[in-house]
Amino acid sequence: ALISMRQLLDHAAEYGYGVPAFNVNNQEQMRAIMEAADKTNSPVIVQGSAGARAYAGAPFIRHMILAAVEEWPHIPVVMHQDHGTSPGICQRSIQLGFSSVMMDGSLLEDGKTPSSYEYNVDVTRRTVDMAHACGVSVEGELGVLGSLETGEAGEEDGIGAVGKLSLDQLLTDPEEAADFVSKTGVDALAIACGTSHGAYKFTRPPTGDILAINRIKDIHSRIPNTHLVMHGSSSVPQDWLAVINEHGGQIPETYGVPVEQIIEGIKHGVRKVNIDTDLRLASTGAIRRHLAENPANFDPRKYLAEATKAMTAICVDRYEAFGTAGNA
Ligand code: G3H
Ligand code: 13P
Ligand code: NA
Ligand code: ZN
Repeated sequence: ALISMRQLLDHAAEYGYGVPAFNVNNQEQMRAIMEAADKTNSPVIVQGSAGARAYAGAPFIRHMILAAVEEWPHIPVVMHQDHGTSPGICQRSIQLGFSSVMMDGSLLEDGKTPSSYEYNVDVTRRTVDMAHACGVSVEGELGVLGSLETGEAGEEDGIGAVGKLSLDQLLTDPEEAADFVSKTGVDALAIACGTSHGAYKFTRPPTGDILAINRIKDIHSRIPNTHLVMHGSSSVPQDWLAVINEHGGQIPETYGVPVEQIIEGIKHGVRKVNIDTDLRLASTGAIRRHLAENPANFDPRKYLAEATKAMTAICVDRYEAFGTAGNA
């Protein structure tokens, strides 16, 4: 059944677990997420980005999620719109039947320029008013995602700030977070703690100076009743990087957010953990390997089934590690 984000995250907070929120662009990702949820008895958050809507079209994203609800009726599913850049975009998703939207007012409508605090409060408050009237949950974002190593957002084509960011943009301030939540009434708050979108998060395995899990603890002690969201939470599995590079790929050395650090975040109020890149890496690795080992194959179902299997394994790992398993 479709449920709202608020229902699910309230349950997660009560029982102390986190929920991975996987991005969906195609049927293989959708099936992988649901098969893993079915195996582990986990509730599901699937999210469609602007990029996903441009790639597959909003009706296909929506019907893929509805198809999943029909095939696995016993699994609770949140249909979430990722990174809306205006109240109008969120409104259209609400009309399409999404049960949750993200109003990312940390950036202006271009998805690139960091906004003022007043702008963020204004667009988020307006989105909450509209969404709550429809029983839809809202995720806001305070702080700008980006690397504490370079001061840059990294992500080239998706949502991400352009230009150098300062330390107080890169780390959400607990006091400001408290003010933001009380002024906007958001159901969940995405915070900045040194993670960024995409595969190139860290040039070395992250330590506390570049991945500020301590900041999450400070925010959670200030606003213990707010569900926190970590974006840019792919772990960038080294084994999949190796598979890709052993089969013709060229991905330079890079590191993601270790699962143990995410678990530390979950102990301190993180309830939604956004993951896209890990499924991209696993499916690309599985397809490269399959095609290299089966050069005569030209049936896409064969290599896409390998991609689905690889993504399912990642989803199972995350559901188990975050404590989501057993809570459907
Ligand atoms: O927001 C970041 C997600 O990874 C979505 O990326 O805009 O390329 O679909 P995308
Ligand atoms: P990753 O690029 O780390 O998978 O993050 C995805 C995300 O935050 C989507 O909103
Ligand atoms: Na989101
Ligand atoms: Zn994100």
